[in-house]
Amino acid sequence: MMHPSLLATIQWLTLSALLSIAMAADNNSTASAPIFLNCGASGVQPDSYNRSWDGDASSKFAPSVKGNVARASYQDPSLPSPVPYMTARFFTSNYTYSFPVSPGRMFVRLHFYPTNYNGNLDSANAYFGVTTNNLILLDNFNASQTALATSSAYFFREFSVNVTSSSLKLTFAPSTRNGSYAFVNGIEIVPTPDIFTTPTPTSANGGDNVQYGIDPVMGLQTMYRLNVGGQPISPQGDSGFYRSWDNDSPYIYGAAYGVTFSKDGNVTIKYPNTEPNYTAPVAVYATARSMGPTAQINLNYNLTWILPVDAGFTYLLRFHFCEIQYPITKVNQRSFFIYINNQTAQNQMDVIVWSGGIGRTTYTNYVVTTVGSGQTDLWVALHPDLSSKPEYFDAILNGLEVFKLQDLGRNNLAGLNPPLPPKPGVNPNGGSSRGKSKSVAPAAIGGAVGGLAVLLIACVGLCIICRRKKKVAKDTGKSDEGRWTPLTDFTKSQSATSGKTTNTGSHSMLPANLCRHFSFAEIQAATNNFDKSFLLGKGGFGNVYLGEIDSGTRVAIKRGNPLSEQGVHEFQNEIEMLSKLRHRHLVSLIGYCEDRNEMILVYDYMAHGTLREHLYNTKNPPLSWKQRLEICIGAARGLYYLHTGAKQTIIHRDVKTTNILLDDKWVAKVSDFGLSKAGPNVDNTHVSTVVKGSFGYLDPEYFRRQQLTEKSDVYSFGVVLFEVLCARNALSPSLPKEQVSLADWALRCQKKGVLGEIIDPLLKGKIAPQCFLKFAETAEKCVADRSVDRPSMGDVLWNLEFALQLQESTEDSSSLTEGTSASTSPLVVARLHSDEPSTDVTTTTTTTTSLSITDRSIASVESDGLTPSNIFSQLMTPDGR
Ligand SMILES: *[C@@H]1O[C@H](CO)[C@@H](O)[C@H](O)[C@H]1NC(C)=O
Ligand SMILES: *[C@@H]1O[C@H](CO)[C@@H](O)[C@H](O)[C@H]1NC(C)=O
Ligand SMILES: *[C@@H]1O[C@H](CO)[C@@H](O)[C@H](O)[C@H]1NC(C)=O
Ligand SMILES: *[C@@H]1O[C@H](CO)[C@@H](O)[C@H](O)[C@H]1NC(C)=O
Ligand SMILES: *[C@@H]1O[C@H](CO)[C@@H](O)[C@H](O)[C@H]1NC(C)=O
Ligand SMILES: *[C@@H]1O[C@H](CO)[C@@H](O)[C@H](O)[C@H]1NC(C)=O
Ligand SMILES: *[C@@H]1O[C@H](CO)[C@@H](O)[C@H](O)[C@H]1NC(C)=O
Ligand SMILES: *[C@@H]1O[C@H](CO)[C@@H](O)[C@H](O)[C@H]1NC(C)=O
Ligand SMILES: *[C@@H]1O[C@H](CO)[C@@H](O)[C@H](O)[C@H]1NC(C)=O
Ligand SMILES: *[C@@H]1O[C@H](CO)[C@@H](O)[C@H](O)[C@H]1NC(C)=O
Repeated sequence: MMHPSLLATIQWLTLSALLSIAMAADNNSTASAPIFLNCGASGVQPDSYNRSWDGDASSKFAPSVKGNVARASYQDPSLPSPVPYMTARFFTSNYTYSFPVSPGRMFVRLHFYPTNYNGNLDSANAYFGVTTNNLILLDNFNASQTALATSSAYFFREFSVNVTSSSLKLTFAPSTRNGSYAFVNGIEIVPTPDIFTTPTPTSANGGDNVQYGIDPVMGLQTMYRLNVGGQPISPQGDSGFYRSWDNDSPYIYGAAYGVTFSKDGNVTIKYPNTEPNYTAPVAVYATARSMGPTAQINLNYNLTWILPVDAGFTYLLRFHFCEIQYPITKVNQRSFFIYINNQTAQNQMDVIVWSGGIGRTTYTNYVVTTVGSGQTDLWVALHPDLSSKPEYFDAILNGLEVFKLQDLGRNNLAGLNPPLPPKPGVNPNGGSSRGKSKSVAPAAIGGAVGGLAVLLIACVGLCIICRRKKKVAKDTGKSDEGRWTPLTDFTKSQSATSGKTTNTGSHSMLPANLCRHFSFAEIQAATNNFDKSFLLGKGGFGNVYLGEIDSGTRVAIKRGNPLSEQGVHEFQNEIEMLSKLRHRHLVSLIGYCEDRNEMILVYDYMAHGTLREHLYNTKNPPLSWKQRLEICIGAARGLYYLHTGAKQTIIHRDVKTTNILLDDKWVAKVSDFGLSKAGPNVDNTHVSTVVKGSFGYLDPEYFRRQQLTEKSDVYSFGVVLFEVLCARNALSPSLPKEQVSLADWALRCQKKGVLGEIIDPLLKGKIAPQCFLKFAETAEKCVADRSVDRPSMGDVLWNLEFALQLQESTEDSSSLTEGTSASTSPLVVARLHSDEPSTDVTTTTTTTTSLSITDRSIASVESDGLTPSNIFSQLMTPDGR
């Protein structure tokens, strides 16, 4: 007996086979060669993928352009190569490039590097539209805003247009607003066959599988192209169309990441006759993400991706599938639902049925229409479908593409500029990747499975919480703060960095979700069998060793006590948290080992150790005040990310100077999430029964109310600030009673206006008075008795940046020299009354605007690596960039 959906599938396969034969006859469309135009440049130059870019100066595509060549004043380190980004063409009036092409479909990629050009042209003032022969690609487009919103210095937008004449015209039109101009750095034109109209997509709205034909003339914009469960794929790795494929993990909703894996060694990826091999590269099909090995867990959650898109358009979603591991080789072993926007798009999705066997590729198309304006989220979810009683309760996905369809009525593809993210760029490491971690994927299945089962139970809980939070956010009309930065513009930073192996050194090179599994033997080899001379220190979790892996990479290896019941929980907690959290100011987890009941975590090695080692009881040379400020700012940024950047609020719970580590470049990184707990909503009872954290840093309200909030971290961080200022322990039992607790003592001194007397003697005369006031005021507020009176981590961060700015401006005017030390220039320490208007005009103005610009300043810092002070001057002089 044949299942109805099977029948339908077979009919469908026959149909698409016929179609593809019909298509093959029309092979003229791919006849013309790709064009790579380096705007504002002359001559031929290669890019990082060794593609030859032709300068547009005196080229046949731009015969009449003159005078508006522009050179970027600054080469952002994230640029993969100077070509085509370091030059641009600026237009003050409409200009049309005319490209001779063979009629047919082609990718048009527009590259933008919004920055300052020629020292005086600021691309932030560019505001323009781009149209092809008859289609609006971009409208009122602000490239600077797009770059900010995606936390990337440069980006490209990819369109697919079907040109019906022998020339593709691209018109750059400055907006009518006075003084607007247009610019572009590079234009790619890559001919393709028709890759969109077949198989005919079905509509996902309503779940009744109505067909929705794609008009062959329709223009499309690529919104997402994801190599699910795999590494980013650079344009070079793609078969001739120069497409980029990104890692999908930044878009996964909640904490349920499922498991990723790559193909079994003896499986060969084969394209069926119905599917041309350019549909997607082998590497896309060779990796996948599934829900996990435990049926009961899978039944309780949806593996969900959230993809922000422009509302009011129709989208084509293409799912790429391939079964790549034994034992799934037969029909009805794995069957699942595909949901799009909470509607069933497909039931009984059985990859073997669609593809014809293990290693065979297939893809499906669905169309969904969104309503409204601005941005909206596409929800894509997978869940086991039990209706055919499959052998495994699981789902799989190898690749996902999302294309925006042209609005046929208005001949438009342009959406609004993306909103600036309310929070720092969420994946600032850019899911950086290195070839070697490819071997990681199979380990994720073999090794992590045991722990994941437990973790996933927690994840399901988290999902529910997240959902609840999200709903509240919607209801109150606020945007969802924890949302990931939409990458609708394909920031290429991921694939771009993958070629270079030794860039930042301290950044982990693993994609956000993958966590390397080490065998116990590898760990033994790395530490010379836990040799005492490799011991770096002892922590709450256990001993920390210096290790060396991959012949030369230094790592910190934390070995927990294998038998500790509580340790198991913290171990899994830490793996789960850390493997997802990637940030410049968090210590990156590289991997773990759980062979032989061992609990071993492998971290990036932090060459300069803990912050405390550089403050007191130390032989290390003292840190300057500015260095201390920068370290505090880094740590604050890490904590701010924990509180707001991830999908759920993460409370560190043990903020202290020994958990702030310093790498070889003195970048501060927050470490030790063994005690972390997801947001305040999660499992209150559990959180409140176990008091954790370190004495001297503990939020007094936590004791009273047994309630843990982000503000508990703010309190602890306030203690850190005082510790940095005063260079003494948070608790010093040997001192007179009123001085034992640093927080109490410093607060008392601050209120009496004599805090300046207890600061680190080495700092006397070195702190600019205004900076000191700002810093002390910030620390004071952090340790407020009631959590409602404490600032948020974002405010703390902003105030510290401000303090640094005050310090720097004073140092620049060199009023703080070695000569003017303690004796000649005593610090003026005024008491700041919270109920009195401040006498300091600067402080007042900036404080009132802090809320509105905090986000921007942080977003900018994350995106282009500017120092806080640079940002600050940009904020102070908005026109002066
Ligand atoms: C397609 O190719 C054929 C020869 O193979 C040629 O006669 C025809 O003009 C081409 N069509 C287009 C649109 O280029
Ligand atoms: C188109 O394909 C046919 C065979 O299918 C071949 O003979 C012809 O040369 C091809 N034309 C072009 C322009 O590639
Ligand atoms: C780059 O391409 C040129 C030809 O276009 C070739 O000669 C050269 O070997 C290539 N370089 C690399 C590194 O692939
Ligand atoms: C573009 O966006 C940036 C960042 O949001 C903003 O500063 C700039 O003023 C905008 N430019 C125009 C012309 O709107
Ligand atoms: C420039 O192009 C835009 C859009 O293509 C058009 O609306 C506008 O009228 C053009 N302006 C001029 C001066 O031709
Ligand atoms: C382009 O559009 C024309 C209709 O104008 C259609 O006949 C042709 O097949 C399309 N080409 C592709 C590659 O989709
Ligand atoms: C795709 O198939 C064609 C022949 O059909 C072959 O020439 C080409 O090398 C293949 N490309 C890839 C990337 O496998
Ligand atoms: C491939 O390897 C698996 C074990 O990993 C084995 O069960 C299977 O028989 C092998 N298949 C082939 C075709 O060699
Ligand atoms: C899907 O459902 C979730 C709740 O289960 C809701 O938060 C979300 O907004 C829905 N998505 C769409 C696109 O309707
Ligand atoms: C999965 O998503 C579908 C569609 O939104 C929803 O109906 C179902 O309740 C979800 N299942 C779980 C376990 O969340």
